[in-house]
Amino acid sequence: MQRTNLFIYKLSPDAVAARDAARKLAAAFGLDRLDSNLCAEDGLSAIAVRPDGRTARYIPYTDRPIQWHTDGYYNAPDETIRGFLLHCESDAAEGGESALMDHEIAYILLRDEDPRLAAALFHPEAMSVPPNEDEGQTLRGMRAGPVFSQDPETGTLHMRYTARTRSIAWRDDPVTLAARDALTRILNDPASPYVIRHRLMPGEGVICNNVLHSRAGFRDDPDGGRCRLMWRARSYDRIAVPA
Ligand SMILES: [Fe+2]
Repeated sequence: MQRTNLFIYKLSPDAVAARDAARKLAAAFGLDRLDSNLCAEDGLSAIAVRPDGRTARYIPYTDRPIQWHTDGYYNAPDETIRGFLLHCESDAAEGGESALMDHEIAYILLRDEDPRLAAALFHPEAMSVPPNEDEGQTLRGMRAGPVFSQDPETGTLHMRYTARTRSIAWRDDPVTLAARDALTRILNDPASPYVIRHRLMPGEGVICNNVLHSRAGFRDDPDGGRCRLMWRARSYDRIAVPA
């Protein structure tokens, strides 16, 4: 785990209730300082389809696919998400596969292609995210920042990224735009040996140092009792191996 930045686990079926399991695992692996975003109660978010309410406007709370990203790419620097846990309580009737790629590998592939591409993404205005506005109220202002940075707390590589194209502003310089396109290619390479594809089943989960990830669309079957429910904990801490 110290080498890969991520791991997938499976609990035995008689393990504790999913929400408690998620909370305990997050704590056991050092994810202590949890991010309480708009949709989280006590640091844990229930990721499921919610047709109404405040969360309905956010893609995670729909059955739609989510493109490649790292978590909290819109957060302020003092709320950088360094690790997260995603624990499956129940899977969808169909679909919902996760794809994961260690962001350090994405960086190495980019650097191998051309070191200038990787370097351009360290620029403090490499990628800007538009404000978050809800019914005329600004919940978050425009956020400019680097894609790659060295975490000042740990010295490790951090990545801030979304493959979203709508209203994301990339620094208007040819090398930055070439780097963005190269990353898109790297992440969407169907033959990549570095992309881990896994459909999380009940009792399974992912713990990682906020690696790149995406989610396929899915279909719930409320009548058949097959609705996708994931517990997510996002943390300002990286994972730590239990003593
Ligand atoms: Fe995510």
